[in-house]
Amino acid sequence: MRVCRYRRLQGVCALLLCVSVVLHLLVALLVLSLYPPPCGPLQSSVSQPQPNLTSADGTRTTSTDMGHPVGRGKQDVLEGVAVLSKLEALFSHPLYNLHAPPSPDEDWLLRVRSKETAEQSAEQWLSDSKEGFDPIDWNTSTDTHPPWLRFHLGISRWQLYQHMDSNLPALVEQMATSRIVSAVQKTGGTQLKLLMTFPNYGQALFKPMKQERLEETNVNLYYFSDFERHNAEIAAFHLDRILGFRRVPPVVGRLIDIIKEIKDVTTDHKLARTFFNSPVGNSCFYGQCSYYCSTEHAVCGRPRALEGSLAAMLPDLSLAPRRSWKNPWRRSYSRSKLALWEKTPTYCNAVKKTPPYDRGTRLVDLIDMTILDFLQSNMDRHHYETFEFFGNSTFLIHLDNGRAFGRYSKDEPSILTPLVQCCRIRRSTLLRLRLLTLPQYRLSDVMRASLSQDPLAALAPVLAEPHLSALDRRLATILQTVQSCLLQHPQHSDVIYDDIPDYKG
Ligand SMILES: *[C@@H]1O[C@H](CO)[C@@H](O)[C@H](O)[C@H]1NC(C)=O
Ligand SMILES: *[C@@H]1O[C@H](CO)[C@@H](O)[C@H](O)[C@H]1NC(C)=O
Ligand SMILES: *[C@@H]1O[C@H](CO)[C@@H](O)[C@H](O)[C@H]1NC(C)=O
Repeated sequence: MRVCRYRRLQGVCALLLCVSVVLHLLVALLVLSLYPPPCGPLQSSVSQPQPNLTSADGTRTTSTDMGHPVGRGKQDVLEGVAVLSKLEALFSHPLYNLHAPPSPDEDWLLRVRSKETAEQSAEQWLSDSKEGFDPIDWNTSTDTHPPWLRFHLGISRWQLYQHMDSNLPALVEQMATSRIVSAVQKTGGTQLKLLMTFPNYGQALFKPMKQERLEETNVNLYYFSDFERHNAEIAAFHLDRILGFRRVPPVVGRLIDIIKEIKDVTTDHKLARTFFNSPVGNSCFYGQCSYYCSTEHAVCGRPRALEGSLAAMLPDLSLAPRRSWKNPWRRSYSRSKLALWEKTPTYCNAVKKTPPYDRGTRLVDLIDMTILDFLQSNMDRHHYETFEFFGNSTFLIHLDNGRAFGRYSKDEPSILTPLVQCCRIRRSTLLRLRLLTLPQYRLSDVMRASLSQDPLAALAPVLAEPHLSALDRRLATILQTVQSCLLQHPQHSDVIYDDIPDYKG
């Protein structure tokens, strides 16, 4: 198998690295450098049918199937279509289909390169089938790539995937249904997470269910000791997409068999040692980590079925290194100390003068992230990441949303501080937020519709109704904040960063 990474060297072709597929943990990534004349962005050559939400008879088709619940009543299906049509209408709105500026070649994170000679193009990347894995027969043709690889190859400077990306349903479906070949603990981070590998070498990060849907975070618990919630990870992906950001890697819910899909396939001895049966006969495990990895906090199936979220992995750090940035508005992570921004109303003036917030879109990107976090009430955004390859003018990856959606009965105004102090927002973001307050696109309705596509929705709504109403309430707060910014600044262009000057309306 021939694999390479696209490097900056324009017009030079350096076919680089070839990964012999490592069986257990590691991603076999297929990526390459570029030949002159440059091949077009790979993703754009993917031609798959566009997702189609409804078929002629009004029932859902499998083209956007995210593992739809079976056995629902006809009534549910019809209602589902009614709400889904709201989501469809939203996604076909011009604000979601703005003409994107042409992407120069270097705006793709990774690139497959095709070899020119007949001899080599005829060559297939074949590997012997490793135990439990599918044989690899990918070549430079996109059609032969598994969905996870297309996802990696589709990452660009400003988003993780495209609007209406036809690969998305396939990726999500694969994570939701594919056989699990291996499950090991993911090191780093404080809570229990498993790295799961599929027969086509795709990988996903599994977070088990820790909290019931209606349970609210204990008010006496600091945000840094809150549980990570699997349904928050799922909901964050849907919310981020509805906001038009596309900066959260795809996440899907799945019922996992603790014995067959974790215990029996793990090669992680530390993990294997923590399995036990609870007094009522449920299968449980707790793993090894710094928070909540003990018999008292075991994760248990019913009796073996365990709910969890599976998040698509980003390209391996060796291929696509990422830079981690401290959030200027991070909390103090101390029970007694206040952060500087909490005591200094003019804090943003200093941030605005500090690179990289002093140029480009970094500040408004941070405000976008703030808006996502306020809506989902995520206080845990101490850092954020970008792909190093794109330098400073690139999007912020909205990773790790497990501590979002902890409470619905209360909002957390301090999360909105960057917007309050900076009074700056992207015009495209503002217009989409306004759209989401209209009855025909109401945020809670489109979220409910979007989440109903997740397989776990067959068991219980991914977000309980009070969380959905909280979204509408918080959206109103954001728009009020922008309104008072506009009142304070007679020059509206001080507040609204016009990233879409060609868009009227
Ligand atoms: C989706 O399905 C509808 C109803 O069958 C059809 O009219 C429409 O052309 C389809 N759209 C796409 C993009 O396939
Ligand atoms: C890739 O493989 C497929 C079959 O697996 C074949 O039809 C296609 O021609 C190959 N493409 C290239 C560029 O080798
Ligand atoms: C990106 O920002 C960092 C931090 O401000 C700065 O050190 C670096 O030089 C910038 N890089 C580019 C390419 O502008």
